[in-house]
Amino acid sequence: MKKIATAAGLAIAASLLLSACQPAATTAPPASDGGSAAPEVGFAADATIGVALPQKTSENWVRAEDMFNEGLSAAGFNKIVQFADNGVSEQQSQISAMVESDAKVIVVGAIDGSQLGDPLAAAKAKGAYIIAYDRLLKNTDAVDLYVAYDPYRVGELQGEALIEGLTAKGCNPCNIELIAGSADDANSTPFFEGGMSKLQPKIDSGEYVVVSGQTSFTQVATEGWLAENAQKRFDTLLAANYASATLDGVLSPNDTLARAALTAVETAGKPAIVITGQDSEVESVKLILEGKQYSTINKDTGVLVNKVIEIIKGLQAGTQPTPNGDPLDNGVIQVPVVYLDPVIVTQANVCTAYEGDTVVQKVLDESGKC
Ligand code: GAL
Repeated sequence: MKKIATAAGLAIAASLLLSACQPAATTAPPASDGGSAAPEVGFAADATIGVALPQKTSENWVRAEDMFNEGLSAAGFNKIVQFADNGVSEQQSQISAMVESDAKVIVVGAIDGSQLGDPLAAAKAKGAYIIAYDRLLKNTDAVDLYVAYDPYRVGELQGEALIEGLTAKGCNPCNIELIAGSADDANSTPFFEGGMSKLQPKIDSGEYVVVSGQTSFTQVATEGWLAENAQKRFDTLLAANYASATLDGVLSPNDTLARAALTAVETAGKPAIVITGQDSEVESVKLILEGKQYSTINKDTGVLVNKVIEIIKGLQAGTQPTPNGDPLDNGVIQVPVVYLDPVIVTQANVCTAYEGDTVVQKVLDESGKC
C-alpha cells in the first residue's frame, strides 16, 4: 500500500509541495495523462541510478564519487557514476547514455548548468527524476529538485570571515582583492554575491579599498576553477598594484584558489594576508592550523551524498522529497530546494568542526595542535 501511491494522490502531493510560489504552468502533470513528463516515483529496488559529476576541480568532487559508488551499492541500486573531465560535451553524452540505460534518477553536478538542456529534456521525457547536485541546473524545466549547501549563505559566511579577520588585523583602511569561481558554474555568482553583500558596504564607506579596481564578477572570475588562472591573475595584480601598497585580505571562493593566491603573495615576497576559502581541503586545513589561511567552509560531502541517497530511496519507495527552502528561479521554472547548512571554520573552531569526517579528523589528530 505504502509503496504504490495512486496517480491522483501523487499529483495532489506534488502540486501541494510545489504550490506556494509555482506558476501553474510548471506544475508536473499527473502520471495518468500518459506519463511522459511526470517524474518517476516508485520504481524497482535494483533500478539504475546515474550520477554525472563535473571535473575534479576540488577534493569534494573526488570524495563524492567514492561516496556515491559505495552508498548506491549499499542501497541495492545499479549505479553509473561518472566524471566529465573532458568538458561539457562529454557530460552531455554521459547523461544521454544514462537515459539510454533507463536510469530512474539522474543526479547531476553540472560543469555548466545551462548547457545540459537536451539530454535533460530526454531524461524528463523518459520519466527520470532529475536532481541538481551542489550546482543548480539552469534554463531548463527538466529538473525536479536542487540539493546543496546553500551557496549564497556560503558567500555570506566568507564575507563575514574576511571582515572578522581584517578587524583582528587592525588595518584601516584595509586593502583587499576579490576572487570568484568559474563563470560557467551556477554556484560562482551566489558565492560572490553573498560575499559582496557583506563587503560592499565597507567598500562604499571607504573602510576597504580594492586597490586593483577589479570588483565586477567578470573581472574576478577564474575560468575552470583552475589554480593556475588565479595565480597568474594575482602575479600580475600584485606587481601592478602592490609595489608600495600592502595587501591585507582576499575574498576567495574556495581552498584551491586561496592556496593559489597565497602562493602568488609568497612568491612576490609580500607579508601574510587574511584569506577565505571553502571545501575543507586537507592542505587548507593544515594552513588554517598554521595561521596562513584564515577560514574555510565545511560542507561535509558525506552528509550531502547521504541526503541525496536518502531522497533516492524515498523516491524508490514512492515518497516525494520535502523541500526546505524557497524555490529557486532557474530561468524557466521555480526549482524546489533541499538545503543543508554550510559551517564556517577558522582557527577558533577547526579542532572540533570535523567530527564524522574521518579524512580531515586524521589531519587534525596528526597535527599535534588539537
Ligand atoms: C563548486 C562547489 C565548491 C567547489 C567548486 C570548485 O560548485 O560548490 O564546493 O568545489 O565548485 O570545485
